[in-house]
Amino acid sequence: MAVELFHKNETLQMRKKLIAQSCRLFFSHDPVKIVRARGQYLYDENGTQYLDCISNVQHVGHSHPSITQVAGAQMDLLNTNTRFLHDNIVQYADRLAATLPKKLSVFYFVNSGSEANDLALRLARQYTRHQDVIVLDHAYHGHLTSLIDISPYKFRKLEGQKEWVHVAPLPDTYHGIYREDHPEPGQAYADTVKSLIEEAHKKGRKISSFFAESLPSVGGQIIFPTGYCKRVAEYVHEAGGVYVADEIQTGFGRVGSHFWAFQLEGEDFCPDIVTMGKPMGNGHPIACVVTTEEIAGAFTANGVEYFNTFGGNPVSCAIGLAVLDVIEKEDLRGNAVRVGGHLKQLLLQLQEKHLLIGDVRGVGLFIGMELVKDRESREPATEEAAHLVRRLKEDRIVMSTDGPWDSVIKFKPPMCFSKEDANRVVTCIDQILTELEDVQKEDCGKIPGRPALKRL
Ligand SMILES: Cc1ncc(COP(=O)(O)O)c(C=O)c1O
Repeated sequence: MAVELFHKNETLQMRKKLIAQSCRLFFSHDPVKIVRARGQYLYDENGTQYLDCISNVQHVGHSHPSITQVAGAQMDLLNTNTRFLHDNIVQYADRLAATLPKKLSVFYFVNSGSEANDLALRLARQYTRHQDVIVLDHAYHGHLTSLIDISPYKFRKLEGQKEWVHVAPLPDTYHGIYREDHPEPGQAYADTVKSLIEEAHKKGRKISSFFAESLPSVGGQIIFPTGYCKRVAEYVHEAGGVYVADEIQTGFGRVGSHFWAFQLEGEDFCPDIVTMGKPMGNGHPIACVVTTEEIAGAFTANGVEYFNTFGGNPVSCAIGLAVLDVIEKEDLRGNAVRVGGHLKQLLLQLQEKHLLIGDVRGVGLFIGMELVKDRESREPATEEAAHLVRRLKEDRIVMSTDGPWDSVIKFKPPMCFSKEDANRVVTCIDQILTELEDVQKEDCGKIPGRPALKRL
């Protein structure tokens, strides 16, 4: 198959003309044209290889032959919809159920994380008969109108907060109101949710749900303090609401030790609804909502059919099953523990050398390295983080930033990422931060041969 139809510059011009400008490119100052990929490596039109540190969708590795083979074979045989009986959907639901607590046993298959979260919202509202939603500050839950409304990361830049949305502080013990020196940050942050519920009740409002990523990724690769989810779930249940865990970035073994990130909270914590997406189909659009029989029963009782044209079709489910097989066969959770642990250790060592690294946090292959201008004030080093990402690209490494100030270097590579990849990326970061610190020391404003940093 031809990997390129147009010369790169022509592709760029056509894209500028034909594709909405709000759909942004990575590295917009100098976009990369990727024409093929394998495992954790991307290749541009000249065959140059890039190490991919950001594609958490291509979970088991780009173009994995076990996935493409299954997809092709099922497409060749049949693709219909969920109104016909088919074994793939039930087998897939059964396999997913085996990874989840028993309470979560009823599945809805959809096409994207946004569809999953929108359906979760409908389920919560139908079950509780309440309208209001509590969300975490800086959260992102999807691009549909309903989800922009519950995504402070987006609505703060748009019309603002709806009266039925209540924003709880992000339980971030590095930047937040309670920090690592607090004796019980989990309880303290959970109490902020309790206060929000009380305030909402005073206004006569009723809580349908608490929505949170199990590890807030857009919020900056945050790890919840112990006990937070459990206490929040208690408060939300007392208010008649349900706990929705958004596992769209964090599910399918990314944290290594567990299949789902919410399981890090312990066996006695179980959300009422879990949404999953990105890694499910290794790039094929498939997503899902799982919930309890009671919640699903209340949704069924409204008498309105739930039909989703593409959701749960035989091809999607065959691909989903193949992804589960590869996670097991290649021990990708074990790899996340080993390589993620190694990477985190290397970054912690780097933190001792470079004052710019304020914090290193994460679990498995979900790691954040936060850059700060000053370790005391923890002022985010946004420009330095952007510079690091630009420079890593010159070293053929694709990386991104996240967090409220885009100061967190975010590692979420395909799960086949190796120790050698980790060594390579950390060596490059070390060099770049050394260059940056030299520039800062000399205060000369630019690195010879490199684009000057705006404020350095
Ligand atoms: C945490 C989280 N939830 C939901 C979504 C929406 O998923 P999708 O883009 O598949 O609609 C995203 C996408 O970035 C996400 O990161």
